[in-house]
Amino acid sequence: MIKEIAAVLKVVKLRHLLKAILHPREELLAFKYHYRRVSEEEFVSFLAGPLAARSVLKALAGELAAHESFHAALKEKLRLHSDGYGGQMTREAPAIYSLVRLLKPKVIVETGVADGFTTSYILRALADNGEGRLYSIDLPHYLLPQAKQPGWIVEEGLRGRWELRVGDAAEVLPALLKELGTVDMFLHDSLHTYDHMMLEFRAAWPHLKAGGLLLAHDVGTNHSFFDFIGEAGLKWKDWRVYHVLGGVRKPV
Ligand SMILES: C[S@@+](CC[C@H](N)C(=O)[O-])C[C@H]1O[C@@H](n2cnc3c(N)ncnc32)[C@H](O)[C@@H]1O
Repeated sequence: MIKEIAAVLKVVKLRHLLKAILHPREELLAFKYHYRRVSEEEFVSFLAGPLAARSVLKALAGELAAHESFHAALKEKLRLHSDGYGGQMTREAPAIYSLVRLLKPKVIVETGVADGFTTSYILRALADNGEGRLYSIDLPHYLLPQAKQPGWIVEEGLRGRWELRVGDAAEVLPALLKELGTVDMFLHDSLHTYDHMMLEFRAAWPHLKAGGLLLAHDVGTNHSFFDFIGEAGLKWKDWRVYHVLGGVRKPV
């Protein structure tokens, strides 16, 4: 016990204590948030449950790595961004690939495509599963090269399972969800304001099937994800974050 207290005191800084006294709610939220940030393997295992045995995850990573021309083409096309990634989920995309492989969603909706990095990984996973469709929503984005559509880096051979709707997700998403009825997986990565994220979560949740997966990028940007978790009747124990990608399964 004394050892544990000493270990905590070692990392607690005076500025943390001051912040906690001045902004207790903020600091408690930050603590709860960081406590739920886990490794890629823990994130996938938490969300996919028993399907995600370590040997299975290893095999999936091997299958993804074996798509050499897929990776080479994306890397080549993303060279146009000075940082090599253009704000896309280059870190989290492999986890999303694994989740799609394991949960085998038939219908996926995502908002926020940009060049199409994560879109490519989802479509790669659907192709490897041999089933499923992806519906994406995006606005023409200022980061895209001139005259390029969102998702321009998605290779031709993966486009058969994909439909892109161009427009503001605030309008396009509710209409698309109504058209689709039920979806197996929803991914938010468009406009990261509190109101817009809430709007997307509230729109998607009733259409998500029981056991369906909700993913949201940049969940630490504001409180929308945490507030929505509460609104949906879920607890803090029900979700995890990998890097800045939050994930939660709709209860069965
Ligand atoms: C961070 S990028 C998406 C990156 C992509 N998910 C990836 O990881 O490869 C955010 C995208 O959201 C789009 N966006 C911003 N506001 C939007 C809105 N209101 N409706 C639809 N898309 C929006 C932008 O055009 C931009 O392409």
